[in-house]
Amino acid sequence: MDVIEAVKKRKSIRGYKPVPVPKEVLEQILEVASHAPSAMNTQPWEFTVLTGDVLENVRRSNVELLHSGAPPSPEHVVVSWPTDSIYRQRQVNLAKQLFQLMDIPREDKGKRARWLERGFRYFDAPTVIIISTDRCLSESGPLLDIGAVIQTICLTALHFGLGTCIEDQGTMYPEVLRKYAHIPESKRIIMAITIGYPDWDFPANKVETEREPIKNITTWLGFD
Ligand SMILES: Cc1cc2nc3c(=O)[nH]c(=O)nc-3n(C[C@H](O)[C@H](O)[C@H](O)COP(=O)(O)O)c2cc1C
Repeated sequence: MDVIEAVKKRKSIRGYKPVPVPKEVLEQILEVASHAPSAMNTQPWEFTVLTGDVLENVRRSNVELLHSGAPPSPEHVVVSWPTDSIYRQRQVNLAKQLFQLMDIPREDKGKRARWLERGFRYFDAPTVIIISTDRCLSESGPLLDIGAVIQTICLTALHFGLGTCIEDQGTMYPEVLRKYAHIPESKRIIMAITIGYPDWDFPANKVETEREPIKNITTWLGFD
């Protein structure tokens, strides 16, 4: 698969086959992804890879906290969007597409709650990669580098027939990850990536997200 094909083929996968991903494959993906660029080659990322009973405990505990009404306490800045902005509009468009595919009517609170819960279960993926960074680093500094390694993981996964979803939601209860994944307080938990073999019959996997045309977001200077 060439680079352009991989970049265009990658999409967020929110339904997986119940098939384990071999550890050797995950190791190869992380080794390849570790070639991602970082500021001054600082490589400010660490991976914790979860499967089996550990992941089941995390899923169960996340859902328990969600149902208890515990407020999420993410350890990195989760962006928010002004309600009248194009960013909010894009978010709404995505939600509408996903809810339509999943047959979740706007007023069906039960189905909406089950969809939310699915995210806290990491879409039942067989494996989850948690990315953390050292707290000795500044809060926002490593985020650019981590973005680069995350995209590299997602692209490399395609080579092995695997799908991924980058997932903020999976780090909303860091205390759960600290308890079951043994991530110490000295590390800031940044992001989860769900990873597994895509279930192409799962409706949400058919979503085709839109992109703003380049002409609307690019200024060209000195070309004439
Ligand atoms: C930083 C970040 C956080 C995300 N968090 C979530 C999430 O919590 N839940 C989810 O379903 N998708 C999440 N996504 C996936 C985005 O919704 C998805 O990338 C976007 O809609 C574009 O669709 P595509 O990945 O299929 O191209 C996240 C993506 C990024 C980059």
